Amino acid sequence: MAAGRPGRRGRFDGNMENAMTRPTATGRRSAAARLAGACLLAGGVAVALYVVGRVHTPDYNFSLLGQVGLGAVTLKSTLATIAVGMAALNVLLALWMYRKLPVVTSPPRQVRLAHRTVGFALFALTVPIAVHCLIAYGVQLTSTRVTVHSVAGCFFYGAFAAKVLLVQSKRLPGWALPVAGGTLALLVGVLWYTSALWYYNGYRLPGL
Ligand code: HEM
Repeated sequence: MAAGRPGRRGRFDGNMENAMTRPTATGRRSAAARLAGACLLAGGVAVALYVVGRVHTPDYNFSLLGQVGLGAVTLKSTLATIAVGMAALNVLLALWMYRKLPVVTSPPRQVRLAHRTVGFALFALTVPIAVHCLIAYGVQLTSTRVTVHSVAGCFFYGAFAAKVLLVQSKRLPGWALPVAGGTLALLVGVLWYTSALWYYNGYRLPGL
């Protein structure tokens, strides 16, 4: 019998328990395999970036779109702030898709498209920032703030890769995408808090 169609056997051999439970068990196993694959991908990307950032020798004069020194810090903080705004917008769009917003209308088709477009634009916006971070500083563990920022930066790209993988997967548990998306939004917030807010707040961080 074909492995993917266990229900048929149940119908013909009279074993109704097989017919009703085996497809669910198979689906659960493949969903678990996809979730495990996504976690491995996230961990693999994060560890790879961490190792690259640790072995790399910082080049503090590396420029970001022609800006160096304080100019680069200001530009990066502005871009990171835009990224936080986009992440918040995408959380709202996701809540609308899941009908968790107190809006009267059901989500039009464009909401899904807008969520994907904003998500990829947000990702694209973070790339030059992270490239500057990685080349200018690498992964640094000099203080709690810098450690949290560096590790969150590495994990952000792992979480993004996992989210893209999960979006392509079918038959996932309902919580998988909200958890992946929520983690991404949270990481953008942590990255902003430990860098741009610190800069805007006179190189001090509330709470750290
Ligand atoms: C692989 C990922 C990343 C690593 C390893 C990393 C690492 C770092 C490090 C070590 C610093 C210097 C902190 C200090 O000494 O004060 C820094 C600064 C900063 N990072 Fe990141 N970061 C990453 C990704 C990101 C992302 C995705 C964003 C924004 C969404 C971001 C935004 C900033 C900003 C705004 C600053 C302050 C400006 C500056 O010092 O140049 N970083 N990063």
